[in-house]
Amino acid sequence: MCGIIGSTGDAATLNDLVEGLARLEYRGYDSAGVAVARADGTLDRIRAVDGTTSLKLLADLASERSEGYIAGLGHTRWATHGRVTTENAHPHMDCSGGIGVVHNGIVENFRELKAELESEEHHFDSQTDTEVIAHLLESFLKQGLSLREAVMQSMSRLRGAMSFVAIDSKDPGVMVGTKRMAPLIVGKGRGANFVASDIPAILGKADSFYQVGDNQVVVVSPQGIELFDLTGTSVQLVEISVDWDLAAAERGGFSDFMSKEIFEQPAAVRDTLLGRLNAPGEIVLDEMRLDPEELRRINKIFIVGCGTSYHAGMVAKYAIEHWTRIPVELDISSEFRYRDPVLDQETLVIGVSQSGETLDTLAAMNEASLLGAKTLVVSNVMGSSMARTADAVLYTRAGPEIGVAATKTHTAQISALLLLALYLAQVRHCLYPSEIREIYEEMITLPEKIEQVLATDAAVQEVAQSMAAVKRFYFIGRHVGYPVALEGALKLKEISYLPAEGYPAGELKHGPIAMIDSDAVVFGVTTRTRLWEKMTSNLEEVRVRGARIVVVANEGDTQSVGLGDAAFEVPKTHALLAPVLDVIPLQLFAYHLAVALGNDVDRPRNLAKTVTVE
Ligand code: M6R
Repeated sequence: MCGIIGSTGDAATLNDLVEGLARLEYRGYDSAGVAVARADGTLDRIRAVDGTTSLKLLADLASERSEGYIAGLGHTRWATHGRVTTENAHPHMDCSGGIGVVHNGIVENFRELKAELESEEHHFDSQTDTEVIAHLLESFLKQGLSLREAVMQSMSRLRGAMSFVAIDSKDPGVMVGTKRMAPLIVGKGRGANFVASDIPAILGKADSFYQVGDNQVVVVSPQGIELFDLTGTSVQLVEISVDWDLAAAERGGFSDFMSKEIFEQPAAVRDTLLGRLNAPGEIVLDEMRLDPEELRRINKIFIVGCGTSYHAGMVAKYAIEHWTRIPVELDISSEFRYRDPVLDQETLVIGVSQSGETLDTLAAMNEASLLGAKTLVVSNVMGSSMARTADAVLYTRAGPEIGVAATKTHTAQISALLLLALYLAQVRHCLYPSEIREIYEEMITLPEKIEQVLATDAAVQEVAQSMAAVKRFYFIGRHVGYPVALEGALKLKEISYLPAEGYPAGELKHGPIAMIDSDAVVFGVTTRTRLWEKMTSNLEEVRVRGARIVVVANEGDTQSVGLGDAAFEVPKTHALLAPVLDVIPLQLFAYHLAVALGNDVDRPRNLAKTVTVE
């Protein structure tokens, strides 16, 4: 949700904050702001509202006012409490204007705290939950506590998942941050130290990156970085290994991140799959911290995730059950957590999350751990909260994904989950080694096949442009074509804002078909599987009701192609691997339609890249 950055040190500049904020825009772009501590002991605040222009405005202001910079905090907002106005933009300040706070998450008990603070004569300027933190810190500082102690004390008064960073003009070079189930990292650079919600914000500025754990307090000053627990005991810093480079977090000649990331899929899938088969032909998952013996004891798997990650998890359910015969339940993270799931020590819960920070998935995984289950996360971010807290981790190697609509991390997630399914089959002796090798060998042809799909971009664009006036879309598929249909619909909804629904093709006639008429466009995932004939019957059912049809079909499959008014062709592969290819034309379609409608694909309305509130 909101993005946080802070910098301090001789080499730190206001520009660091503005550049960092530009790289954090994917977290929220309702408004942005900075609070800058200056050598003269003042805290200067600049805030700007209005999606696209706020950062530009800040950059202009920053260039005018960069003199005397000692340290500063920056924030990009995704509004939860309080409308999108300048007064609600962060940083928020205490009554004296000497304490600045940037915050991500929700202070669930802010109403009661606000009433208490107001009764003590604190004056509030905004409608946000965040502002209570600034006033709470002010109260503690007035009692003679240091900023670090005040932050520690505040944590016991604040309820909810959050991270925040504070600065006090009385000790202007020092930033103090803390977190509980929300992202926060710190970085050391040459002559400057940093705090941020996400690694891309400080890529190219920090040379080394460190974790901040839940209920830890970090003090970042020009002299260094110190970490404490809530009792004030010093805690060892743990470095996060980051192999992303700055170029990966920039557009690199593309007009937007979404198209760049769609075209990075061959590399994302290749890097995720490479080196996973050893010389004797066994799958090796180096990062896995679960012992094969433990995996042999598992008798039930749950997969949890949200949005696109949930769709990747759905593909995995089909593959794991087919290859290992372990029963798999699939849950939306926010439902799993509160539905009293039946788990024990022989249950494995797999969380799928590109960011590794989505609060619903993080909480679902924590709940599973508490109930005694083993947990494993598939994540794209090294050192993310889930990667740190799960029993095991499997990384996708897609590089940073900045576009709000997930694309390359989705196909990388499916690839990683398929590897995991094969690994489970291997340790449990469910498939012959030769079968595993054969499937893996097919998997490593996927990057080349993705290139072939991407080469059809212009044809997809033409179809998308011809459908710019269509108002309703439906996506249908069977078996692993069903998650592809769901993902095709989600991509289109997210960036075109048009109604788009995904259904299992066989379910259409149980209700949704009532919506089908000549104004509808139906996408059918019609690549060849044993259910192909049934799929074609379902397409006939919508055709006779007047809908226009677009099929995703195997190259050269004239029968399938003939079913559609338009066809997107993809190379043939193993049926369980097909979603990696089949989803790509649907990503391209969503992209081109949104561009044709004039939408900002990287900053879709109301959305943020990582959802760290419930
Ligand atoms: O970081 P995560 O994978 O946990 O995020 C989950 C969803 O919020 C995410 O996939 C969302 O649906 C994307 N915007 C989809 O494009």
